[in-house]
Amino acid sequence: MSRKIIVLDTTLRDGEQVPGAKLNAVQKVEFARQLERLKVDIVEAGFPASSRGDFESVQAVTRAVGRQMSVTALARAVKSDIDAVYESIKEADQPLIHIVLGTSNIHVEKKFNRSKDAVMEMGVEAVRYAKSLLPLVQYSTEDASRSDFDYLWRTIEAVVKAGATMINVPDTVGYAEPHEFGELIRRINERLKNLDERVILSVHCHNDLGLATANTLSAIRGGADKVEVTVNGLGERAGNTSLEEVVMALKVREALFGCSTNVRTTELLPTSKLLTHLTGLDVQVNKAITGENAFAHSSGIHQDGLLKDKRVYEIMSPEEVGAESMELVLTARSGRHAFKHAAARMGFEPKDDADFEALFEKFLALADARKEVYDHDVFALVNGHREAQP
Ligand code: KIV
Ligand code: ZN
Repeated sequence: MSRKIIVLDTTLRDGEQVPGAKLNAVQKVEFARQLERLKVDIVEAGFPASSRGDFESVQAVTRAVGRQMSVTALARAVKSDIDAVYESIKEADQPLIHIVLGTSNIHVEKKFNRSKDAVMEMGVEAVRYAKSLLPLVQYSTEDASRSDFDYLWRTIEAVVKAGATMINVPDTVGYAEPHEFGELIRRINERLKNLDERVILSVHCHNDLGLATANTLSAIRGGADKVEVTVNGLGERAGNTSLEEVVMALKVREALFGCSTNVRTTELLPTSKLLTHLTGLDVQVNKAITGENAFAHSSGIHQDGLLKDKRVYEIMSPEEVGAESMELVLTARSGRHAFKHAAARMGFEPKDDADFEALFEKFLALADARKEVYDHDVFALVNGHREAQP
């Protein structure tokens, strides 16, 4: 039986930290409703203490989807932040307060200028206070991957004893390496098992070295129960772990990971497109799963193989992620087989070999001039060829 991984989407909080990605309340609600269709388990709707507008957006998201999914929002380890989170999410069926506080030496020394024990006490106090308001509390040990393990563990143990129900281990600056991060999670998981309290172990990775998805998957192998992700990998600096990459990696390699999610994968592309529409931020064309070229095949050798059997070059079907169908982008290197297939889809039935060769010559001339030839170009070629017939 496959282990269920909880998916928290933080596009509306960490994703929104991207310059230019700020959404208003109406847009946030529209996106949250799409997350509901996508079937993520928890939506992180914002950072309500940051502004009146963000508070109202989080509240609007709670009212729109709080019956169907768990809703959370971020607080620093201070009472006023926790109050703002509580007030904005309390109407949800499963509201979750998310508290963040750094554990690395550099955070403790430079951000707080207090002793390690004093910082830990701040965290414990914050959890106790949050717990007096709601039963579900997540504690994030910010910059965990650069933290001294003994202090990190002491903090985790102390906040669990104070009532935290989820421990989130962030690779805040995208510094971790997959083996190392998986091992960190495995060590924490081992120790958590020895406590009386049952907690959910979560991870939150950033992509500064392009390793966010790899680190998240490695953490899952190390025993993480929950992942924090964003659509299109949007997020602070180089972004967060991309939701669609983790979900599809777990699906395509389910036999390897032995894990699955509740996510409805056919909603992945519609969700990505909605986000692009709302933020105006395009997805890079070669982005895994949601990029424009993710299912486009242009090499002649590949196209030939695909036409024989899709599985030759496809590890998942475009339909599975909500894309229409595989696209063969023709180039001068595509070859006769791929062109014949594309022309036939546009209704071309050659009278004889010479007829086909004549059309193929026109295609090569167009491909040389344009570099890429799309379906609508083939359609125009076929029609032009037909009209030129005596
Ligand atoms: O990157 C980070 O550490 C965060 C925390 C708030 C989880 O975004
Ligand atoms: Zn983050």
